[in-house]
Amino acid sequence: MKSQIAKLNAYQPGLSPKALKAKYHIEGELYKHASNENVFGPSPKVKEAIQTSMDDLFLYPEPNAPQLQKAIAKHLEIEPERIIFGAGLDEMIVIISRTLLRAGDKVVTSEATFGQYFHNAVVEDANMVQVPLKHGSYDLDAIAEAVDKDTAIVWLCNPNNPTGTYHSHEAIEAFIKKIPANVTIILDEAYGEYVTAADFPRTLELMETYPNVAMLRTFSKAYALAALRIGYMVTTKTLASKLNVLRPPFNTTRLSEQAALAALKDQAHLQKAVAINQREREKFYEIDTNLKLYPSQTNFVFVETSEATKLNQALLQAGIIAREFPNGVRITIGFPEQNKVIREVLAQF
Ligand SMILES: Cc1ncc(COP(=O)(O)O)c(C=O)c1O
Repeated sequence: MKSQIAKLNAYQPGLSPKALKAKYHIEGELYKHASNENVFGPSPKVKEAIQTSMDDLFLYPEPNAPQLQKAIAKHLEIEPERIIFGAGLDEMIVIISRTLLRAGDKVVTSEATFGQYFHNAVVEDANMVQVPLKHGSYDLDAIAEAVDKDTAIVWLCNPNNPTGTYHSHEAIEAFIKKIPANVTIILDEAYGEYVTAADFPRTLELMETYPNVAMLRTFSKAYALAALRIGYMVTTKTLASKLNVLRPPFNTTRLSEQAALAALKDQAHLQKAVAINQREREKFYEIDTNLKLYPSQTNFVFVETSEATKLNQALLQAGIIAREFPNGVRITIGFPEQNKVIREVLAQF
C-alpha cells in the first residue's frame, strides 16, 4: 500500500436523522441542513427524462456524456471538447489530482475549505500548503506568496465551502496575474449558480486570457441532483484530452446524463430555486444576534462561534441537523419554515 494512505481516513458522513434521534432522544421531526443539498428538488422534467431512460439500463453509457457535453457547450458558448465530466466534482478532483500531481509537487489552497483538495493531494504524495483564512475568506495575497516553482495546482473554492464567502472578478484576476502560467488555477464553483453578486468572476472570460485557469461546476447543488453524481470541468481542449486519459470510461451514467440535460434545459426552475434561496439567505442577516455570520453567496450560512458544539446541540433540539466545525456551525438554507426555526435558535443563542 502507498504509505501516505495510512495517514488518511475514509470520509465520515454525519449521522442519519434516525441515528441522531436515538442518540439524543429527540422526539419530533429532524430536518437535514448539513450537506448543502437543495431541498426544493430538481425540475419535474428530470423525472420524465429518467423514466424515458429506463429502457436503456442494460447499455453502458456513452463515454463523457456527449449529449450533455454538447448542451452545456451551447449554454456556455464554448467548444464541447473543453468539457469533461466526473461522477460529481468529488471524482473530478480525483482525476485532476491524479493527472497533474507528481510526488513532491506543491498544492496551495486555503485552510477551512473543501476537504477533497487536501485528501487527493496527500494520495498523490504532493505537499499541501493551506494558508489561513482572513476574515472568513481566502487570503489571496498570502496564497500568491505561498506559490513557488514547485507548485502545480492552486485550488480556489469560490464561493468557499464552508464559509460561503466569495472573491470578485477583479480580485481573482489580480490574483491570477501574480501566478506563473505553468500553475493550474482551479476555480471550484460548486455553488456558482446560487451566487447573486454582480461582481462574481466571469470565469469563462478569464480563461480566454489565462488558459491555466479552469472552472468546476456541479449538478449536485442548485440543480438538485446530488443523488445522481454528475459535475464537470471546463478547461483547455489540451488539458481536457489528458484528463480524459484518467477518467474511467463509464464514470457517469445514462440516467445522470439525461437528468442533467433535463435540469439544464429548465432554467426557469433553477432560477426559482435561486431566487427563493436569495430571499431566505437575506433574512439571516437581519437576525438580532451577537453571533458572527459570514456573508454568504451560497445555499448555506456559516456562524462563527467558540461554542460550536453548544450551538449545534441547540439546533438539533429544535429539529435541525447542521454541520459543526471547530470555529462554528454551517447551516444549509432549506424550506422557509425550517429557516425560521434556525433563525429563532440563532437569535436566542
Ligand atoms: C466546494 C465543493 N466542491 C465540490 C463538491 C463536490 O460536489 P459533487 O461531488 O456532489 O459534485 C462539494 C460538495 O459539497 C463542494 O462543496
